[in-house]
Amino acid sequence: MSLEKVIDNKINDLLMKIDKQKVPEHIAIIMDGNGRWATKKGLPRSYGHNKGVSVLKEIIKASKKLGCKTLTVYAFSTENWTRPTKEVDFLINLFNKVLKNEIEEIHEESTKIKFIGDLSPFPKNLKEIISSSESLTKNNNKFLFNVCVNYGGRQEIVKAAKQLALKSSAGEIKPSEINEELFNSQLLTRGIKDPELLIRTSGEKRVSNFLLWQLAYSEIYISDVLWPDFNEFEFLKAIIDYQSRNRRFGGIESLPNESFQDSGYSS
Ligand code: IPE
Ligand code: IPE
Ligand code: MG
Repeated sequence: MSLEKVIDNKINDLLMKIDKQKVPEHIAIIMDGNGRWATKKGLPRSYGHNKGVSVLKEIIKASKKLGCKTLTVYAFSTENWTRPTKEVDFLINLFNKVLKNEIEEIHEESTKIKFIGDLSPFPKNLKEIISSSESLTKNNNKFLFNVCVNYGGRQEIVKAAKQLALKSSAGEIKPSEINEELFNSQLLTRGIKDPELLIRTSGEKRVSNFLLWQLAYSEIYISDVLWPDFNEFEFLKAIIDYQSRNRRFGGIESLPNESFQDSGYSS
């Protein structure tokens, strides 16, 4: 049997274990480990970022195939500016190039692309292609693909607080009216359902300033695989693990034939 056939069979085995009714509607991914992947191979870190792009394309396809509706990926954090200028410039050029090459196909597939983060420090040509891609795809409704660039969860929360303070001092709202819903409406992700699942690759067990508000009740899956080695198979493993979780949201699991009265609390 060819290697491709073996991989296809392994993927099909996992697909059969997935409950199609319980696929997360929104998956967020911290695509981490590009640099280490390249370094391990004796290559410049940029090779890892390039390979990471083809993995992302595979994961978008896999998400659509499963029936997931929204994918949000962390492509560049507010802290990533501290990297050497050469790497930052490489990443900015890569975003530009990939967007140029892929936007037609994204649009043909009726995917809406949205960039989340403070775009102001990016060069004019990148801002222009981001803006034209967003307007081209704004009415697409099959799939939503969010790319977080120059994104930081704390900065997003501070900005929301500032906006509410301004509205309050202008007399548009009363401080007593501020609640979760109003706060949520000031975030960059307004209108987007919170992710049910967060995947982080490369084994790091932290959120690195990603979607701090939105991840409040997301299930977290850490994969030890470095992002450039991640693939549909590893992705399906994350979905299966997610489906085995018991999401309690602070409550208790409801057990048949058991009530509060006979649970032994009073004894
Ligand atoms: C993730 O891979 C991509 C970005 C942060 C842009 P890294 O570049 O962080 O790779 P590692 O973690 O150094 O291996
Ligand atoms: C998080 O990865 C940011 C992105 C994947 C874009 P980092 O590599 O920047 O995070 P740390 O430094 O390991 O926390
Ligand atoms: Mg990293």
